[in-house]
Amino acid sequence: MMITKIFTPAETKQAAKEIQLGELVAFPTETVYGLGADATNEQAVKRVYLAKGRPSDNPLIVTVSSPEMAADYIADYGEFGHKLIKEFWPGPLTLIFKIKPGSLSPVVTGGLKTAAFRMPANETTRKMIAEAGVPIVGPSANSSGKPSPTTAQHVFHDMEGKIAGILDDGPTQLGVESTIVDLSTAEPAILRPGGITPDQVAHALGQSVDASQHKVGANETPKAPGMKYKHYAPAAQVLIVHANDWEQALNWASQQNEKVGVMALSETLAGDLPANVLSYDMGNDLQTATHRLFDGLRYFDNEEPVNWILACAFAEDGLGAAYMNRLKKAAGDTFFEKKS
Ligand code: TXA
Ligand code: MG
Repeated sequence: MMITKIFTPAETKQAAKEIQLGELVAFPTETVYGLGADATNEQAVKRVYLAKGRPSDNPLIVTVSSPEMAADYIADYGEFGHKLIKEFWPGPLTLIFKIKPGSLSPVVTGGLKTAAFRMPANETTRKMIAEAGVPIVGPSANSSGKPSPTTAQHVFHDMEGKIAGILDDGPTQLGVESTIVDLSTAEPAILRPGGITPDQVAHALGQSVDASQHKVGANETPKAPGMKYKHYAPAAQVLIVHANDWEQALNWASQQNEKVGVMALSETLAGDLPANVLSYDMGNDLQTATHRLFDGLRYFDNEEPVNWILACAFAEDGLGAAYMNRLKKAAGDTFFEKKS
């Protein structure tokens, strides 16, 4: 088994060296940790799919240290591309462009004529990419189907022995993956909600933006290919609980003969809890809850295994749309049903 090294932020050169050698190195971003490999090295990219257990028709994000690095591959930024890059890079916004034919391997693009590009805010990671001198592919560094990693420890849990190293720069800030905007079609469309909201994107573009794409039904083909796969799923069944339903939900939990995990706001956890309930504190607001969401799901998978998880709902606007998108996937869209 390969030994997975931990690189400190001062060791970007060593991490970059591994990338140049075709090895895999996980890296921090402001959203979640990614799994990096030289995007111009087909063998290295193939090993990313292998390490994650990811279906190979699901294309990868090309992660760059500067807009200039992306210019080798993008056919035409267009007016929209320039506007969004100026406003949001570096930051949690991934952009899909038509690529220059043959500039990227089909292993990266899944054979598509387009590719996803992202310039993360984390400076340590940008330094590593610049030192490697090549863009890196950057899917989230979790085993396929599991919650995305928001700490180096999460990555280590899923990837120990499978990758050469992890660049550890502490917990990520946002906690959910980047917003994906498709600029390869006539009208810009949001394919995945994230930290940058549809309103922010529309404002920067000076026109409205189609945000309906991520609401794909079970039988439709989603535009972000990855959205069709099982995601973020812990071993337990997750039930989403609306703010007004907690009294009934905790009452239901108390009647179960097994342990129930509860991911709720601090105020919900402040009262008396049933003896069979294990709690995970989501904080006092949406931002903190989003930051903690994947850590909470992993906590009840790896540290305190339970059969059920009750998790708090938020209104689906702004950042709440990104939070609920991930939570609904983890729950298979299942809500705690209040009996009236
Ligand atoms: O915040 C993030 O975006 C993180 C960090 C590590 O950068 N990365 C991430 O990568 O979430 P990943 O691979 O887990 O999600 C990328 C999504 C997938 O659903 C994939 O199907 C979609 O982007 N995608 C990639 N290329 C695409 C393309 N050309 N057209 C449409 N969707 C694409
Ligand atoms: Mg992912």
